[in-house]
Amino acid sequence: MLQWVGVTNSNVDDLKTINSIVLPIQYSSTHPMYKHIVSSGPQFSYLVYHPLEGVIAGMGCRLEPAKEPLYVDKIYHRQTARIYIITLAVLSMYRQQKIGTQLLQRLIETCNIINANNSVEYIIQDIYLHVQCSNHPAISFYQKLGFQIEKNIPQYYKKFSTAEEQNAHILVLPMKLTSE
Ligand SMILES: CC(C)(COP(=O)(O)OP(=O)(O)OC[C@H]1O[C@@H](n2cnc3c(N)ncnc32)[C@H](O)[C@@H]1OP(=O)(O)O)[C@@H](O)C(=O)NCCC(=O)NCCS
Repeated sequence: MLQWVGVTNSNVDDLKTINSIVLPIQYSSTHPMYKHIVSSGPQFSYLVYHPLEGVIAGMGCRLEPAKEPLYVDKIYHRQTARIYIITLAVLSMYRQQKIGTQLLQRLIETCNIINANNSVEYIIQDIYLHVQCSNHPAISFYQKLGFQIEKNIPQYYKKFSTAEEQNAHILVLPMKLTSE
């Protein structure tokens, strides 16, 4: 049976391991994003452990203020925030078994619970991410979960050789703003 655990200081090394195995972009283990992931809280980033194989999947997210808020809460004065998915990785032999879907569903459920609770000081406007235009499986995956392409950014990933690999889509999933 798989175990699902929030990312904290004590297990963030497992997220670094899974990212280094799976992702086409190599991040150093001292990359500041890992600090952002841990400080955003274990409710937004998760690891999946197999009882025999250890870590098999992980998702790292950052909670950030919305620079151009689409929504202002005039009743409860909650700040408008966004969730940025920095990394999402499932080991190849465990793909297409809905592990990625369950990781995202956990995140969406967390955002819905936060948005419905007016005592939380922020409300989450949307979840968003960058993806290489060449990463067709990931684009299909996110679109199946309701994400839409918001814009294209040419040459976002400069280290790659072809235009499709260099260019990025920004994919966005708007959240239900239940205190509206
Ligand atoms: C993208 C990724 C996280 C998907 O995880 P996963 O656990 O395999 O995805 P799921 O099993 O939940 O797939 C859900 C749906 O996504 C789509 N999908 C997933 N993998 C796909 C593929 N290789 N080709 C086309 N569609 C795919 C399908 O619609 C699928 O539904 P279906 O199984 O009913 O057809 C995984 O492929 C991965 O880790 N890729 C490498 C790293 C990466 O690209 N990360 C994203 C960077 S932004």
